[in-house]
This record gives sequence, C-alpha cells and structure tokens, in this order.
Amino acid sequence: MSGPFSRQIDPSFLYQSKGHKEALGRLQLVVENNNLGVLTGEVGSGKSTLIRCLFGNLDSKRYFPIYMSMTGLKPRDFYGELLRHVGEEIPFSLTKAKRLWSETLEARQEQGDKSLIVVVDEAQEMSPSMLTELRFVVGHQMDSCSLFPLIMVGQPKFRKTLRLKKHEAVAQRIPMQYHLSGLTPEETASYIRHQMQAASLTTPVFAESAISQVHAASQGIPRVINLICGQALFDGKQRGSNVIEESHIIRVLTDLDRQRGIVV
Ligand SMILES: Nc1ncnc2c1ncn2[C@@H]1O[C@H](COP(=O)(O)OP(=O)(O)OP(=O)(O)O)[C@@H](O)[C@H]1O
Ligand SMILES: [Mg+2]
Repeated sequence: MSGPFSRQIDPSFLYQSKGHKEALGRLQLVVENNNLGVLTGEVGSGKSTLIRCLFGNLDSKRYFPIYMSMTGLKPRDFYGELLRHVGEEIPFSLTKAKRLWSETLEARQEQGDKSLIVVVDEAQEMSPSMLTELRFVVGHQMDSCSLFPLIMVGQPKFRKTLRLKKHEAVAQRIPMQYHLSGLTPEETASYIRHQMQAASLTTPVFAESAISQVHAASQGIPRVINLICGQALFDGKQRGSNVIEESHIIRVLTDLDRQRGIVV
C-alpha cells in the first residue's frame, strides 16, 4: 500500500515531535562524544526511524555507520557481524573474533579511517549470553577511551532488563539513556497533517473528533496511527468523503478488531 501513512520515510520528512527531536539531539551527542547510548521506546514509536535519520544526517566522509539487529544474535555472531561490515574474515571461535575486532579497531584508528558508529537495534531480543558479553563490550569501550559510539535500541523490555541488579555494571556506564513515548493528542494531530503534507495531499481533511479517536486508539504510536489513518483514507475514498469523520475511524477500528478476531 502506498500513501501518506505508508511510506518509508526520508530523513527530511521526519515528524519532529518533542520526543523525536530530543532523542535525535541526544543521539547526535552520543556520536560526537564517542559515547554509549540507549534508546528505548514503545513498540512502533519511531526508534528505528530515528536511527535512519541519524545515519542519514551523518557526514559520509567522516563516519562509517554499522546497523545490526540483535534478533537471535549470539556473542560470536555479534563480532562476526561487526567484522563482516568492515570487510574482515570471520574467525570461527568467539575468542579469535574478539581479538580480531580489537586489532581491527586499533588499525583503523592508526590509519585514520572513517569513525565507526555501531547501532544495535532490537536489543530486547539479546540472548542472556549476549547480555553478559555486553558487559565486556561496554567495559572495553570505557577502558580504551571509547573507540566508537555504541547505541543500543530496544523496546521497553530492554529498559527493564537494564534496571536489573545483575546488569547494574552495564547500566551505570551508560551516559545517555532516552525513552520514546507516544505522541501527545496535539502532536498526533500535527503528525497526521504532516504526513498528508509530505504526500502533497490536501484532501481529505481529518475532523478534530476523528483525530481524537485516532489518538485514543493508538496512544499516539506512529505505526498504529499510520495503520488507522491509512485504512480511514481508503474507507473515505470508497465513500467519496472529503472529510474523515469520527464515524470513518470507528468503522476502521471495528473492522481492525474483527480482522484480528476480537469480537465486538
Ligand atoms: N517521527 C516520525 N516521523 C514520521 N514517521 C514516523 C515517525 N516516527 C515513526 N514514524 C512511522 O512509524 C513507523 C514505525 O516506526 P519504527 O519502525 O521506527 O518504530 P520502532 O520504534 O522501531 O518499532 P519496533 O519497536 O517495532 O522496532 C515507521 O514506519 C514510520 O513510518
Ligand atoms: Mg524498530
């Protein structure tokens, strides 16, 4: 499906809610200061989108961004992925992979290569062994005057994990942590307008009561807003409506519930 609520966004089309703006600013600082950062947020709140924007804004002559998803990644795969990105062979054992990664980092620094920026997304999916390894990675970062900025991104579960006593050593070493929540009712309204404008659409107009319904049903989560509004536009088009009213939204919500097997 294409349209104002479905496009993969271009960094220049980012809707700058207070939270998104603040998060992006802090992530930029993490990069500038070669620091460690954690970005957590509700499912669908825009974390990966922010990372795409952060990468899109970087000077490609200076930086070499590495993005990886933590889904099912074991420590050896973690180093393996890093090494693969910088064009190295991946040794079979964890110890060798770790050593080669350290050596690679040192060599890159000596040669004045582009600065690496590592982002690990879906950090809530980290395996227990990877979480333990994280302590080593973070400790090493600190001891070696932080060789590259490392940003971990995850759902609220990850924030909870970091609060556990056994991960205190890691948590204490993270100078930047930010949690992205849903948009406020006012932001939801401007987000919807922004998405319509970005797609150069002037009609239909979303009535205020419709926007309130969208906000209540989505809790201001952009991915859910997109889903509801995308369906509402479709519904409006079929009925030839110039205004998306509360009734359109209610119909969409009822239909979404029905499709998901929630009896209403
Ligand atoms: N600030 C924004 N401006 C424009 N669109 C946004 C913004 N934030 C989120 N979106 C939209 O919401 C969708 C979901 O965002 P994203 O995939 O970044 O969420 P997430 O927090 O990474 O979710 P998950 O927890 O599932 O990984 C995106 O596809 C994008 O279209
Ligand atoms: Mg994501």
